[in-house]
Amino acid sequence: MEPILEVKNLFFKYPKTDKGLFNVNMTVYRGECVGIIGPNGAGKSTLLLHFNGLLKPQSGFVLVKGLNTLNEKNISRIRREVGLVFQDPNDQILKNIVEEEVAYGLLNSGLSLDEISVKVNDALKTVGLKDYNKRVTFHLSYGEKKKLSIASILVMNPDILVLDEPTSNLDPGGVEDLTNIIRDLNRNGKTIIIATHDMDFAAELFNRCYIIDEGRIICEGGVETVLTNISLLREHRLKPPTVTQVFTGLPGFGKLPVRVGEAVELLKRRLE
Ligand SMILES: Nc1ncnc2c1ncn2[C@@H]1O[C@H](COP(=O)(O)OP(=O)(O)OP(=O)(O)O)[C@@H](O)[C@H]1O
Ligand SMILES: [Mg+2]
Repeated sequence: MEPILEVKNLFFKYPKTDKGLFNVNMTVYRGECVGIIGPNGAGKSTLLLHFNGLLKPQSGFVLVKGLNTLNEKNISRIRREVGLVFQDPNDQILKNIVEEEVAYGLLNSGLSLDEISVKVNDALKTVGLKDYNKRVTFHLSYGEKKKLSIASILVMNPDILVLDEPTSNLDPGGVEDLTNIIRDLNRNGKTIIIATHDMDFAAELFNRCYIIDEGRIICEGGVETVLTNISLLREHRLKPPTVTQVFTGLPGFGKLPVRVGEAVELLKRRLE
């Protein structure tokens, strides 16, 4: 497997605080869908901001396709490779009109206005904002802004898609749509990294995840292992997915499911 993003002995501390990241090591391989899970204040957003060089390690390093984020010459290429959707869409949205916001990153790409318009419409349709082209961005609901911020990164077609708490403020239908969008993108070869503490979403989507707390990696592994480690999750103010919690209270099933579909299969077999 080919590493696409490597974090080595990363140390970063915000000035005048004891908060930051402490000896973080992580490798993401091409084509993976990886979760970074941790409670509020764990350092998830701080870590993600290192992936495209918005924050720089104070020691250690981050490599994107072998390119070190500490080298300024690499930054424009790294920003094309890594599309980062911010936790708060208000930090990301710059333009007043939806279609201008989505088109913004494409303006210097050499594409014609017609080509840009097709891409903008595709991206808006993908996130469920079809026909929102002329809407005023600051009049959108928070969930709509969230979808817009995802569209404006998707339109750039980055190889590595990094999303910070993408399900926050989305309604259940929005979460389901987003899960399907991300799954399709991943099947089509994109590498996906997502910070979240939405455990049901995590279970449905990730192959592998890292637990982070107080700026340190606590553990790493497949979701079936990590998301069923109830005592470890509790120690870090996390809980297993809802179906896992239900099955924890039911004797005789052996393996604990993490996904709804798995739980349904286990119950069907029991009822047969
Ligand atoms: N600019 C800053 N200056 C000082 N401290 C900061 C700054 N940004 C974040 N922190 C602190 O660093 C720690 C990690 O913050 P971070 O935003 O990375 O956490 P998080 O895991 O993304 O949390 P959440 O789930 O709430 O989004 C927190 O204690 C936060 O208060
Ligand atoms: Mg955060």
